[in-house]
Amino acid sequence: MIEIERLSKRYGDTVVVDEVSMVIEEGTVAVVVGTSGAGKSTLLRMINRLIEPSSGRVLIDGQDTMAIPEDELRHRIGYVIQGYGLFPHRTVADNIATVPRLLGWDRKRIAARVEELLDLYQLDPAEFAGKYPHELSGGQQQRVGVARALAARPALLLMDEPFGALDPVIRAKAQDDLLAIQRRLGTTIVLVTHDMEEAFHLGDRIAVMDQARLLQYASPAELLMRPAEEFVERLVGTAERPFRLLSLARVQDALEPGTAEGEALSASTNLREALSRLIWSGREVLPVADAGGTVIGRVSVDRILRFGRSSA
Ligand SMILES: Nc1ncnc2c1ncn2[C@@H]1O[C@H](COP(=O)(O)OP(=O)(O)O)[C@@H](O)[C@H]1O
Ligand SMILES: [Mg+2]
Repeated sequence: MIEIERLSKRYGDTVVVDEVSMVIEEGTVAVVVGTSGAGKSTLLRMINRLIEPSSGRVLIDGQDTMAIPEDELRHRIGYVIQGYGLFPHRTVADNIATVPRLLGWDRKRIAARVEELLDLYQLDPAEFAGKYPHELSGGQQQRVGVARALAARPALLLMDEPFGALDPVIRAKAQDDLLAIQRRLGTTIVLVTHDMEEAFHLGDRIAVMDQARLLQYASPAELLMRPAEEFVERLVGTAERPFRLLSLARVQDALEPGTAEGEALSASTNLREALSRLIWSGREVLPVADAGGTVIGRVSVDRILRFGRSSA
C-alpha cells in the first residue's frame, strides 16, 4: 500500500503540488489525470524522490520513503516515461538487465528474467534479445521500456504518460497488455495521463488534478455519478470512446443476479442508454426486466463501466 500524505512542492512562491493526499491499495492501478501543468509529473516524481517534496510524506507499506536509501528505492519502484528512455547503444536484453545488474544478480538469473519478460510481452527472445532500440517499432520499444521497469519485480510501478507517443491502435493494445501483465504480476501502478479515456480504461481509482490541487480521487463509477466539481464533470465528459462502445452492447450482456429498487430497465436497452438512466435516476443499481415485464436481474454502474473496459 502507498500512502501519500499532504504532499506539496513549491518553487519559490509557486505551489505546483498542493497538499495532495491519496492511498493506493496493493495490486491496484491509480491513474492521475489532468491538463498540462497540473502538477501530475511532479507528484509522480516525488513518490520515488526524483523530486524532493517541500512538505508531506510518502509511505510504502508503512515505511517513510525518506528512511529508505535512494538506491533501494530505485529498485523497489519502477519508472517508465514517455519516449521509453531506452539506452540506444545497448541491446534489448542489456536494457532489460539494467537494474538486475545494479543489484548484482548472477548471469543465469538475469538471463532467465530477461527471457521471462520478453515472453510475457510476446517478443520472441531469439529474435529480439540482441536487437538495438532503433531496430524496434515504437510499440515494441514501449514494451521493452515497461519490461525493463518490471525487471527487478518492483512493488510499485510509476508511469508518466507511457503511451503518449503511440498511435491510437497500438496505444489501445499497449493499455490492454499492461492490464493483463498487471493482473498477472499483481504490481501496484500509478500512471499519469492527460487522457480521460485512458484513465477510465486503466484506473481502479482516478485522481483528478488541476492547478496543483487534487480535486477528486475516486473510482470511475464515482467520478461519473458524483463529480466533485464542474471541472471533473467536464473532464469526464471528454472520455467519449468507452461510452461509444457501450452503445454497441445491451443490458442483457451486463446482467447480474438479484434485483434492486427503482424503475426497471429493459434487457434490450443499450448500455449507454442504461448508464444515462442510472445517472439520471441517481442510483448505482437498477432492476432489469424482460420483454414481458418480469424482473430477471439487475445492472449496476460499476458493472457497465467494467464492461466498457473489458471490451475496449
Ligand atoms: N523546476 C521547476 N521550477 C519551477 N517550476 C516548475 C519546475 N518544474 C515544473 N514546474 C512547474 O510546475 C507545474 C507542474 O508541472 P508538471 O508537474 O510537470 O505538470 P504536468 O505533468 O501535470 O504537466 C508547471 O506549471 C511547471 O511549469
Ligand atoms: Mg507531465
